[in-house]
Amino acid sequence: MISTLDSLADKFISESAIDRVALIRLLSEADSIILQKLAKAAGEIKLREYGSGIFVRGLIEFTSYCKNDCIYCGLRRSNTKAERYRLSSEEILKCCELAHEKGFKTFVLQGGEDGFYSDSFLIPLISALKEKYPDTAITLSLGERPKDSYKRLFDAGADRYLLRHETIDSSHYAKLHPSEMTLASRVKALQNLKEIGYQVGTGFMVGSPYQTFENLADDILFIKDFKPAMIGIGPFIPHKDTPFKDFPSGSPELTVLIIAILRILLPKVLLPATTALNTLASSWRDKALISGANVLMPNISPFEARKKYSIYNDKVATGEEGGENLELLAKHLKPFGCVIDTGRGDSLMENYNQGAP
Ligand code: 5AD
Repeated sequence: MISTLDSLADKFISESAIDRVALIRLLSEADSIILQKLAKAAGEIKLREYGSGIFVRGLIEFTSYCKNDCIYCGLRRSNTKAERYRLSSEEILKCCELAHEKGFKTFVLQGGEDGFYSDSFLIPLISALKEKYPDTAITLSLGERPKDSYKRLFDAGADRYLLRHETIDSSHYAKLHPSEMTLASRVKALQNLKEIGYQVGTGFMVGSPYQTFENLADDILFIKDFKPAMIGIGPFIPHKDTPFKDFPSGSPELTVLIIAILRILLPKVLLPATTALNTLASSWRDKALISGANVLMPNISPFEARKKYSIYNDKVATGEEGGENLELLAKHLKPFGCVIDTGRGDSLMENYNQGAP
């Protein structure tokens, strides 16, 4: 007997498990009532596992140079209109000092794949940060590097690493990336990070060009098996100076549905409500936070840098997205029953450094 979507959603919620066929149905057919049901269940799981706290991470976008040419990204090397900048160690340390004063206990160092930031640049920086702020976690998001580089940065004190797999379908991967980038190399990098002992974050864009519901189901099932400590999910947003400029943005509603599904599948995972979602509408960010998301990553880069780190059109980096305005954010979130938690916010996922793909 073919079950109704409603009974399928109930079964998923009670079993915390779903097969591929059912998942594709849920993704492609869910209406606002089903979304509401899953969002409510996911919100309750988040409350049970993590309480009402929302962890905040201070995000420093320290270089807009990138050697890669990802078709979707405004920082791709072929974009001659991109404004490029690099922050010095002193500038990065200053950002962290200000953020630490505000209460941040996680610094995320994110940038394009920029050869300027060699291990010999990063190791003293990471060591200095750990020495100055021993109560703080350091998250790196620097793309693909050799395993021994990941290991050296880990040994210097880095705790976590964010590297989205982008799509687990190799032919879809090839439509989003130039031929020198491969899914196999991306998955190998994720495996290496786990083996070294990082708390690893992975994820993908919702509504990227040529993506199908089957792709999304496979991405979700890959993540379930990979058991990351964190999952970054945000809608695709076109950038005006990329070949994908005329593609539509991903759906914020579908993004929230996927966040809820992931919370139900992986109750203990860390799930940010991403800047891309907030860029489309802050109401969808708020919806994500009551539907299973439990992390925000306010921007703590110098103001001049924020405008230049343009990975998609109209990316927000001030107001509630600015690390200097935590009070504003706290005030906004209160009516939703969310409080800002400035603790380190380690993942509750067990074995997040085992079970590599
Ligand atoms: N829209 C949304 N997200 C994007 N990213 C890059 N370009 C875009 C875009 N146009 C995401 C990718 C990447 C992360 C740094 O930002 O998923 O992993």
